[in-house]
Amino acid sequence: MNELDKSTIICRCEEISCEEIEDVLTNGAKTFDDIKRLTRCGMGPCQSKICHSLVAAMIHEKTNTPIFQIPLPRMRMPLSPIKLETLATNSTSFSSVKSVLDEVELEDGKVR
Ligand code: FES
Repeated sequence: MNELDKSTIICRCEEISCEEIEDVLTNGAKTFDDIKRLTRCGMGPCQSKICHSLVAAMIHEKTNTPIFQIPLPRMRMPLSPIKLETLATNSTSFSSVKSVLDEVELEDGKVR
């Protein structure tokens, strides 16, 4: 990886800079999960889909660990929102909250 400016944002979701990641690597972090716990890098909405490869390259550069041996970070389970009504009534039938996009009606590929 080419030399990055220290202020370069590596994790866009959590706004973690190159310098912050280098600091934790210097202080002994060896895996993405170490970096995640110390900086919140990878805890954003994309769950490290964007920053993972950059962080892996930084770990590789700092520790000489081959990229393929750097473990993937733990990820949050995929969840979908459910209606409060479902929780309040102890309903056993699944009632998910629909996206506003579910209500959009298209006509010839355009919103009506
Ligand atoms: S860019 Fe790092 S969690 Fe999204």
